[in-house]
Amino acid sequence: MQKKVLVLFGGVSSEHDVSLNSACSVIKNIPADKYEIIPMGITKDGRCYIYNGSPDMLPEGKWLEDKENLEPAVISTDRSHHGIIRLANGAEIEKIDVVFPVLHGKNGEDGTMQGLLEIAGLPYVGCGTAASAACMDKAVTNAMADFYGIPQAKWVAFDKHAYSGNKTALLANAAEKLGFPIFVKPANAGSSVGISKAKNLEELEAACEKAFEHDKKLVLEEGVIGMEVEVAVMGNEEPVASVVGEVVPCNEFYDYDAKYLANESELHIPARLSEEKLEEVRKAAVNAYRALGCEGFTRVDFFVRTSDGEIMLNEPNTIPGFTSISMYPKLFAASGVPYSELLDRLLKLAMER
Ligand SMILES: Nc1ncnc2c1ncn2[C@@H]1O[C@H](COP(=O)(O)OP(=O)(O)O)[C@@H](O)[C@H]1O
Ligand SMILES: [Mg+2]
Repeated sequence: MQKKVLVLFGGVSSEHDVSLNSACSVIKNIPADKYEIIPMGITKDGRCYIYNGSPDMLPEGKWLEDKENLEPAVISTDRSHHGIIRLANGAEIEKIDVVFPVLHGKNGEDGTMQGLLEIAGLPYVGCGTAASAACMDKAVTNAMADFYGIPQAKWVAFDKHAYSGNKTALLANAAEKLGFPIFVKPANAGSSVGISKAKNLEELEAACEKAFEHDKKLVLEEGVIGMEVEVAVMGNEEPVASVVGEVVPCNEFYDYDAKYLANESELHIPARLSEEKLEEVRKAAVNAYRALGCEGFTRVDFFVRTSDGEIMLNEPNTIPGFTSISMYPKLFAASGVPYSELLDRLLKLAMER
């Protein structure tokens, strides 16, 4: 029998638009013989609608202008409903088998939506509440990586309150501990939003001001000189790693434009490393996945340092970009799992948990 999948898209996040593109691909490629798809969009200000129109209307937010196909609905937190409540004609309860939150960043990838789905008793694709939250906050991720002995760049973190009270000393201390260049990041963001590379104290201060526009906590990291590699990992108790991909950003680092707009960043699958190194990276990815408590799927990103070949964790992405040409699906396609089959497997992993 067909299973009913609720695909969530949009969301209150700086990565709203990225989600629209991911969800468009996901909706088109979930195998229709096995699943009935119900797309539910969340607007930038947090309103919820079932969208009955074409998935091609998602990119650029065109679905919201297609009023005829919008139907107000909510996820029910009453477990006996096990699904959604359509609100167009009174309140109609509809059962759902599994949810795919195709949401990036805040309120989607950070454990909050996962918490709601836990309360609703609905199985969902991807990491649970705690792992999602830990992987979203770069300070928490880095602290966990240190705890588990996972190599990574040197780092410091502070919040706006500490910064306002003691800016000069904080920045001087960071510069001394990390050396330049320093990467300045909002602790909670994604898609490189608010991230800058600072080459001196003056730039460091400007970079902090910019990052504080996105979050009240920042993470500063030593700049690693190396190859950027990414591994797609999938599974619950027995996670498997894909082949390793390499990104060569077309800008000075892999910023928002280099990721989505310029379309000139190079990808190499597999990464241009020795067989032995590739195997080490895959092991490191599964190790980090387990240490961080990931389930379902996560893309784990690393640097392979040029000077000594050290494999250093950059970050886990618990809901990675998911268009058919995004890195995660591409890596599994290169590992022998085509996109539609990948979606089927992720949905099954969710229902097995
Ligand atoms: N410590 C670092 N050393 C060198 N480059 C970095 C470092 N941290 C981030 N970058 C660059 O910035 C990009 C975005 O940083 P990342 O931590 O992955 O943030 P996001 O979650 O927004 O993707 C990386 O892909 C990389 O190009
Ligand atoms: Mg990244």
